[in-house]
Amino acid sequence: MELFKGAYEGAVTATSYAEILLAKAIKVHGADCPVKYPDTAYRLPVITALSGEEVNTIGDLAPILNRIRTTNIREELTLENAKLNGEATLYAAEIIEALRYINGAKPDVYPYCGFVTDPILRKFGVPLVDQTIPGVAVIVGKGKDSKSTAKLVKELQSKGIMIFLVNEVIEQCIEENVKIGSEFITFPVGNFTQVIHAVNFAFRAGLAFGGIPAGQRERAIEYQLKRVFAFVIQLGPNDVVKTAAEFGAMFMGFPTVTDQPVAEEIPEWYQSEPDYEKIGKLGLEIRGVKIKIVDIPVPITIGPAFEGETIRKKDAWVEFGGGRSTSFELVRMVGVDEVEDGKIEVIGPEIDEMPEGSVFPLGFMIDIYGRKMQEDFEGVLERRIHYNLNYGEGLWHVAQRNMMWVRIGKNAHAAGFKIRDFGEILIAKFKSDFPAIIDRVQVTIITDKDVIEDKIKIAIEKYATRDARLKDLTDDVETYYSCLLCQSFAPNHVCVVSPERLGLCGAVSWLDAKASNEINPLGPNQPIEKGECLDAEKGQWKNLNDFIYANSHNTVEAVNFYTLMEYPMTSCGCFEAIMAILPMCNGVMITTREHGGDTPCGMTFSALAGTCGGGMQTPGFMGLGRRYITSKKFIKADGGLARLVWMPKELKEFLGQDLIDAAVDQGLGADFVDKIADETVGTTEDEILPFLEEKQHPALTLDPMM
Ligand code: SF4
Ligand code: NI
Ligand code: NI
Repeated sequence: MELFKGAYEGAVTATSYAEILLAKAIKVHGADCPVKYPDTAYRLPVITALSGEEVNTIGDLAPILNRIRTTNIREELTLENAKLNGEATLYAAEIIEALRYINGAKPDVYPYCGFVTDPILRKFGVPLVDQTIPGVAVIVGKGKDSKSTAKLVKELQSKGIMIFLVNEVIEQCIEENVKIGSEFITFPVGNFTQVIHAVNFAFRAGLAFGGIPAGQRERAIEYQLKRVFAFVIQLGPNDVVKTAAEFGAMFMGFPTVTDQPVAEEIPEWYQSEPDYEKIGKLGLEIRGVKIKIVDIPVPITIGPAFEGETIRKKDAWVEFGGGRSTSFELVRMVGVDEVEDGKIEVIGPEIDEMPEGSVFPLGFMIDIYGRKMQEDFEGVLERRIHYNLNYGEGLWHVAQRNMMWVRIGKNAHAAGFKIRDFGEILIAKFKSDFPAIIDRVQVTIITDKDVIEDKIKIAIEKYATRDARLKDLTDDVETYYSCLLCQSFAPNHVCVVSPERLGLCGAVSWLDAKASNEINPLGPNQPIEKGECLDAEKGQWKNLNDFIYANSHNTVEAVNFYTLMEYPMTSCGCFEAIMAILPMCNGVMITTREHGGDTPCGMTFSALAGTCGGGMQTPGFMGLGRRYITSKKFIKADGGLARLVWMPKELKEFLGQDLIDAAVDQGLGADFVDKIADETVGTTEDEILPFLEEKQHPALTLDPMM
């Protein structure tokens, strides 16, 4: 078979090429020269995942390359052998690529992004597990023309697919102004062997979220097959190396579709589809990617690919709020007769009366009736406005409540977007995302500057009632909620969410979990009656233990809610922040995904994530949601906030007044925050200790942590 022959020849070519480059690198830099990708805890992820061989220097690569050639390159043309040849090609590509990064080189120039780092992998953890990102497409080669290629990419973007682009398709997309980059979940990795960055991304998902130990080849592959819904679209003429790489993809469970004629197709695995309108769908279909389709009658594309899009002031047609005009957003539960389903009313000027570059007030009042709706869910639903509007291409929404700040881009205006269309998007999304709790929705949009001053009073009163209710919610409630969402990636990980401790991803509060259980009673959030209290101080309850044990596949026997030191809660991969013990300072530090730099425990966020992710319980280390830090229950058994000796500036600023309030609440005084060291003070324990002593940080006088 032609394809199998290609896989064999391609594997020979790729490994020979790797050998030449490797020999050259050894000659120039010496065998002891360190080799690693930037910002990852997984060294060379393909090798880490498949064989577990430790690679530190370029000299380590030679025996690995020799081994894979001996074991995998097979001339006899069978499907089995073609996949082994594919695997060898993945090794070769990984080696070739890793060599580009030696001596801290930054080889990737615009528009290529090259290696996709761990922080980006983790950032997409939640959307991957909750299937906001339903699948992954790797598009390789050169499309027949830029227009139809761009259309294909945009179509996949609008479905929320994560995309890796390799070769000329990148330039074709740029030519047609397709939005690419990590904000759009579309990675222009580069040319030729740079396709490996899609592969090593997928393998890291298994290592990070699946908790699969390095070198467990069968499990690593099984994970890809079962949990990573990826496929390859090969455009334009193929060559043997690409063919071999495609069999490498097949080895991982990912099929290929191509616009080229294929003499002998492999049904479900290697198929031809010359029609660009159909090729994307075919890929999704044979990989079994399921997409929820919501048709929204607006003139712009709606999809998670546009969530991260920013619209600068100069690109905005009109802007609302952000301190320059009054704005608010409000979701209200109303009675059955107070709402006319599907009604959208605009009070005030439409976009035609808004000149370019103008500022107007904006208010959204979303009235919801549902038999199963509860007032407690209003806030949960209100926060969805942010995502739903940001999904619109050319729409930008930040902050919330009466701080809301919105821009409509010139591109959206040119496409014919109207103020009224905000209502179309909100209604369609609310109804499709929450069918179980929403029966009727109506949206009132206010752009009139007198009416808004009147209506905002209703909103402000409502926010105050809600906040008062939230303050009353404590961990004393009888029922906590599980979250098993991340099990699709981290099979043994169980989050239990309580009113005073949100999920470590920061995206699931107790109220969110409660609402989600109402929406989908058999879904990932289950109510658990706490039952008998086994340790009030550390926060351990019998029924929670039982639930966690059963749902972690009998791996986690007990969890303490309020300590880092003994049976801490497990971490999957999507924590917002990580806490680690600092023995010398008798306290703890916290670092965040946003802070990429060094920390006093000697590890960066990525490296820490590698030690405590994947559903493991690691005393002294724990993933957490940012908002847990200001909770009264924050590691209460370890001494609470008083233990916190280091955090990045960025996190201090993010928590702001809430952190000060929490410190005052715990009797530490308003100036406590100034006693917490940050990266400007130092990034080692030795550097920060004198500062803590000088400031008389309370951690220094607490009982020893260990
Ligand atoms: Fe994942 Fe836990 Fe967040 Fe649920 S609460 S999405 S399990 S991190
Ligand atoms: Ni997770
Ligand atoms: Ni998680």
